[in-house]
Amino acid sequence: MPSFSFQCGVYSNSPLASNHLTSNSEVSLKGWISFANLITWPLFTNLEHAVREGTDQVSRTFGVSGKQFYKEKFFKDEASTKNFMDGMHGLSLATSPSVVKAFNFSEFKTVCDFGGGTGALAYELCRVYPEMSIKVLELPPVAKVAAKYFEPQDGKSAKVEFVPGDFFEKELPAADMYIFSQVFHNWQEDKIHQLLKKAHKTLKPGGAVLLVEHLFNDDKTGPPPVTVRCLLMLLGSEGRERTKEEYTQLLEVNGFKDVQFKPTGVLQTAILARRL
Ligand SMILES: C[S@@+](CC[C@H](N)C(=O)[O-])C[C@H]1O[C@@H](n2cnc3c(N)ncnc32)[C@H](O)[C@@H]1O
Repeated sequence: MPSFSFQCGVYSNSPLASNHLTSNSEVSLKGWISFANLITWPLFTNLEHAVREGTDQVSRTFGVSGKQFYKEKFFKDEASTKNFMDGMHGLSLATSPSVVKAFNFSEFKTVCDFGGGTGALAYELCRVYPEMSIKVLELPPVAKVAAKYFEPQDGKSAKVEFVPGDFFEKELPAADMYIFSQVFHNWQEDKIHQLLKKAHKTLKPGGAVLLVEHLFNDDKTGPPPVTVRCLLMLLGSEGRERTKEEYTQLLEVNGFKDVQFKPTGVLQTAILARRL
């Protein structure tokens, strides 16, 4: 769809452009586009090195090691933290409604969203399921700024609480469902096993995990946007995008069953599995 229309010598934005490319739209992708400009594009200039070396290019691109990247680049101060979060927020606001429609979540009264960013998915879940209460566990600099994204004045009196902490170190809060949205693609298998083992230990039988990820097709030849995202994971993290089969194995080996996949229609797939 063209991003503008032209009639009698007057240009105007199409509805799609007005929705996503203007700063004052609720579902603006401006933050995400700025993030792409500041982080994604510089990383992609080192794609050749990444493919040759098979490792991330954070140090070559930004002059800091992968481990220090978040601390020194994203969370250097409140303004940098906000830039990073604006990037995630725009995309998350646009995609969360489709994720929430993917399954019926009405049986889950308590939920914990790990690495839940600004809480966009948590607030959307609470809008649709007002009886739900959700803890969003986030790294302390993010948790501090996140609470400012949704103010009670927009009528969102949702039961969302931000809990500062590192999900690898902290004991997981008890809940009926755990969410990992766009989290596993940042990590290698050993870290995912660590998180799923912890989740299995704390969830009660019948409890669930919800993953939201971009799925590769079975032979990893596409779809093209997922291939590009996988390259971004290679360039900027230790993770990668995975296939249905790979997510099923990761879940089943850690004691989860009934793995269900629902494409959300916005490139992501929602994956729900039950604790045995
Ligand atoms: C790619 S973002 C996904 C954000 C959100 N869940 C979404 O779907 O848009 C990954 C999130 O994980 C958080 N994160 C990374 N490492 C973490 C850790 N060790 N403990 C808690 N959160 C972490 C980051 O701060 C970031 O907000």
